[in-house]
Amino acid sequence: MKNLRIIVIDSDDLTRKTIRTHVSGIAGVEIIGESSDTTTGHRMIRQQKPDLVVIEVGGLDDAGMRLAGDVHQESPQTAIFVTSAHKNPDIILKAMSSGAKEFLLRPIELHVLTKAVEKILRDPARGEERGRLRGRLITFFSNKGGVGTTTLATNTAAGLVKEGFGPVGLVDLDLQLGNVASFLDLSPKYTVYDLVAQIEKVSPETVDSFMARHASGISVLPEPRTPAEAEAITPQQLTRALEVLRSSYNFVVIDTPKGFDERTLEVLDCSDDIFVVSELSLPALRNLKKCLDVFHDLQINKDRIRIVINRYDPRGVIRVEDVQSNLGFEVYWKFPNDFLRVMNGINTGTPVVTAPEESEAAKSILQFCRKLAGKGEEEFSDAARGRGGYLKRLFGKRED
Ligand SMILES: Nc1ncnc2c1ncn2[C@@H]1O[C@H](COP(=O)(O)OP(=O)(O)OP(=O)(O)O)[C@@H](O)[C@H]1O
Ligand SMILES: [Mg+2]
Repeated sequence: MKNLRIIVIDSDDLTRKTIRTHVSGIAGVEIIGESSDTTTGHRMIRQQKPDLVVIEVGGLDDAGMRLAGDVHQESPQTAIFVTSAHKNPDIILKAMSSGAKEFLLRPIELHVLTKAVEKILRDPARGEERGRLRGRLITFFSNKGGVGTTTLATNTAAGLVKEGFGPVGLVDLDLQLGNVASFLDLSPKYTVYDLVAQIEKVSPETVDSFMARHASGISVLPEPRTPAEAEAITPQQLTRALEVLRSSYNFVVIDTPKGFDERTLEVLDCSDDIFVVSELSLPALRNLKKCLDVFHDLQINKDRIRIVINRYDPRGVIRVEDVQSNLGFEVYWKFPNDFLRVMNGINTGTPVVTAPEESEAAKSILQFCRKLAGKGEEEFSDAARGRGGYLKRLFGKRED
């Protein structure tokens, strides 16, 4: 069985060191991360999905207690130990109702810690959870409307299935104005709202029953029926729903609205790959630059961010090389401009990748899917970094 992976969130350097030294000595256990603050710790937990987190709690409603509650909601399979210097029964009760499996009094007695960790190690449910599928969450995002985010999300989902990388779930998280279902000409029975409303009862085995099946083979979950339903969905519910979905599909492809609302930020935070869609126009590139600055401020790991250019035409006056050098980011993919086929695809509910007629657009998307799934397509051939000319008036050089 795989090692028990632990993350420790504790403001005290010495306590973290003691826990690390001690539990690393237990066979089958490894510390995969630690942090002195809850915000960084939370991000780490979301990205690494440990088996166990050890969280310091200082009071009834401090950041540690809230973190325990959030982790329990977002990934119930992660065990939580709370450590606290307070023996107050209210704090103990609150910690337990926030999902803590153990309450360890500080200073932590090492034999108590060992016993608690060994109990988790022996838990028969652990192997089952660890053996579950953990699909890849890929999100298409843009902070400029109309650049093709939905087109690329739907085609990528269909392309992944066509190339044999399924099962694939496609989820419309453009909660207010989503149109994935209409792009695919589906009238689904259930929506994202229905899934999150039932989330406590849904398992990886049952989640597919909420999804509509498109002829291409994708399982689709559309946007809520009404703005009121869309508004009722919380970021925490979405995270939980995405966790269940990724235990059921190899890829979960997400379409998002333009811009940074709280729920979209949450989804970006959980995503393995963030495809930021742009086109080679000055307004779109200006927004792309703003978007990358926001990601930088939010400390979103650069490795997860992939810029894709849609409606690419090599005859355009803006060169990809200039964009790359000015942004300090490689362009991961260029999708050709093919308005007629893309539009016909949308109007017939048939993504270009599944249309009977072969097209450059379809070829490009399928190649992109193979690269995404790690099936050795060549890296972008013209990634050479040229020197930007007039684009300099738009972009300042990024500092990392
Ligand atoms: N590669 C392409 N070539 C030509 N036209 C395209 C391409 N990709 C998308 N389009 C067209 O661009 C338009 C907008 O596409 P889409 O709805 O996917 O964008 P979006 O970014 O999701 O927009 P919104 O902000 O409304 O969510 C559509 O009419 C579509 O046909
Ligand atoms: Mg869209």
